[in-house]
Amino acid sequence: MCIVFDKAARVFALDTPRSSYRIGITDAEGFVTHLYYGRRVPDVKMDQTLYLGFGQPEAYSKTGDQVRFHGTMPMEYPTFGVGDFRTPCLSVEAENGGRACALVYAAHRIYGGKPKLRGLPATYGGADECATLEIDCVDAALGLSVTLRYTVFEGLDAICRSALIRNDGAGTVRLTSALSACLDMPNRDFDVLTLHGSWAYERMQNRRPLAWGKHGVSSVLGRSSHEENPFIALLEHSATQTQGQVYAMNFVYSGNFLMEAEMTQQEQLRLVAGIHPEGFRWTLAPGEAFEAPETVLVYSDQGLSHMTHTFHDLYRQHLIRGAFKDRPRPSLINNWEGTYFDFDTEKLLSIARTAAKAGVELFVLDDGWFGRRNDDVCSLGDWVVNEQKLPGGLKYLSDEIHKLGMQFGLWFEPEMVSPDSDLFRAHPDYALQNPDRAPTLARTQLVLDLSRQEVRDYVYKQIYAVLSSARIEYVKWDMNRPLTNVQSATLPADRQGELYHRYMLGVYELQERMLTDFPHLLLENCSSGGGRFDPGMLYYGPQIWTSDNTDAIDRLRIQEGTALVYPLSSMGAHVAACPSHTNSRLTPFETRGLVSLVGCFGYELDLTKLTREELHMIPEQLRLYHTYGDVFRTGDYYRLASFAENGEYDALMAVAKDKREAVLIYVQVLSRERRAVQVVYPQGLEEGTLYRSSETGQLLSGAGWMYGGMAMPRMKGDFLGKWIVLEATEA
Ligand code: DGJ
Repeated sequence: MCIVFDKAARVFALDTPRSSYRIGITDAEGFVTHLYYGRRVPDVKMDQTLYLGFGQPEAYSKTGDQVRFHGTMPMEYPTFGVGDFRTPCLSVEAENGGRACALVYAAHRIYGGKPKLRGLPATYGGADECATLEIDCVDAALGLSVTLRYTVFEGLDAICRSALIRNDGAGTVRLTSALSACLDMPNRDFDVLTLHGSWAYERMQNRRPLAWGKHGVSSVLGRSSHEENPFIALLEHSATQTQGQVYAMNFVYSGNFLMEAEMTQQEQLRLVAGIHPEGFRWTLAPGEAFEAPETVLVYSDQGLSHMTHTFHDLYRQHLIRGAFKDRPRPSLINNWEGTYFDFDTEKLLSIARTAAKAGVELFVLDDGWFGRRNDDVCSLGDWVVNEQKLPGGLKYLSDEIHKLGMQFGLWFEPEMVSPDSDLFRAHPDYALQNPDRAPTLARTQLVLDLSRQEVRDYVYKQIYAVLSSARIEYVKWDMNRPLTNVQSATLPADRQGELYHRYMLGVYELQERMLTDFPHLLLENCSSGGGRFDPGMLYYGPQIWTSDNTDAIDRLRIQEGTALVYPLSSMGAHVAACPSHTNSRLTPFETRGLVSLVGCFGYELDLTKLTREELHMIPEQLRLYHTYGDVFRTGDYYRLASFAENGEYDALMAVAKDKREAVLIYVQVLSRERRAVQVVYPQGLEEGTLYRSSETGQLLSGAGWMYGGMAMPRMKGDFLGKWIVLEATEA
């Protein structure tokens, strides 16, 4: 594994298959500076005059213009207060009110494997899979030490960074900002790419030229949010799907975040990622430590596709865990859009019978099974089954579902409490709220104070009781409102600034406990659709509900944006009712199936209301899912044509890792009569291998398909789709 320290040059050299990362220690004082990140190079020492343009930078750190040194030197973990006026990673307040902080090198270690981050999600790997560099830096005046961690994984162009901040001094130090990673470099002709959105329109790609000043994405909603995703990339202006340099960061965290690109007046670039400083303050008493979450850096010199493949491979191999890490996911039927709150056992069983007959494997009971919950205004927190709706309880229903040969899954929203609930009446202080203000409700609910151990224990007892009460193989863990009035009844005033992060640690602890006690559970995370689609959540559940927007055509762009970073195997994708409950669009059942087959496939509608023709299509859709689902789950994904860009059609494909099989999905969103033929250019095939098309039976080499193109079938009408398999064949 490629991490070495060149003692003479005082440079750490990290290499991945196609990228190099260089960290320097300045001679005079030992500042830890950034020398290079980009295309793989053989050199250890890079041009030392690159950034200052005059003399050796070391001279200036001690005796020359120190402000100029700090203001322009590329740093690995910049601090506030000594002359670096760009966004810092670390900003502190000492006991005497002083704000200055400067970190210098103290020691380092290089070893095989990767340490766990306490209480936090993170990528993982053994000594044969990855290597880690830890650099200890200190500020002697503050008694503060920071350990910067860098992990390089075998065969992947990714570097995973995190930071551990410790108070080794005698006084209290308050952190007012503790980001996780920084990447400084000279300006080039870059675009910045982020994923913005809103409820039902998550992860829309937003690419624009980078200009002077700060450009970023963030969340202060207490969840990673629909609005922005914790992802940012800088791309060469000319970069495409297959060409050009890309520098990307993805933050492995599900709460407040800041990802920001800054171009200074000296035309230097700084990219930072971490917990949003807004609403954050962390007190470190002597001996205490703060663990800043992980940031994944990916470099590609082959455009966006290679970036995507790196994220997908890293997350599939080294982030997702548990029983379903390498297993196909069951096809499911979820009753939410089929019934909403209006159901009873008989209605659910009639849907389940139809599903079982068609071959669906898992029945998921969504919101409305507990307390007096017949709408969304009450009972969150009272996780006791409503026997009026479900006589015999979950046990009876689950047993009946199992008799049909299906598995049973259940929806939960454990982080919440309704003001109209027994839990809130008994323990109003369990909710996050400010004692001097009226609560700010959203969806008529409040958020539980999961920073408190007793609240987590209470919630967990309920989860445990429900999951033990019946055979439950799957949980959909929902979270339907942002955090407001973030105040805890028990935290001291000077620690209330820790609440957002302590809340997230509480969520992670609950999910970890649940998965430890029920290791065979398939967990699907959800937050009003895709409001918490981030790598943090993927560490616990291998799949996430992508969006409450279940319209197949809107899903094309939502899934494209999501799959830019996150594996197809993580995207919940369901065939829903027509007209669409989101936008009333009429889309053929077949097309709805095609678009859903890309992800974790399921149905979310009242199957008893389908026409005979539609019902007959289900076994074929399931056959496709079972036959080719693995290609999407484990293969390489390519964006061939984007409806979001061209406004007419969409094409994507997945190619098995051994390149023996590929599946292409084409959707003609709007028909265009005058075009002679719609050509799509497949990617990722083996040039010299022959592939037969399932559509025409034609046999062509991979090169022939990729460079000559493939004619899409002619179809009359809008919203029509095709599924084409390319099978490697000996001539
Ligand atoms: C929001 C989720 O995204 C939906 O799928 C559904 O589970 C509802 N919550 C239930 O309240």
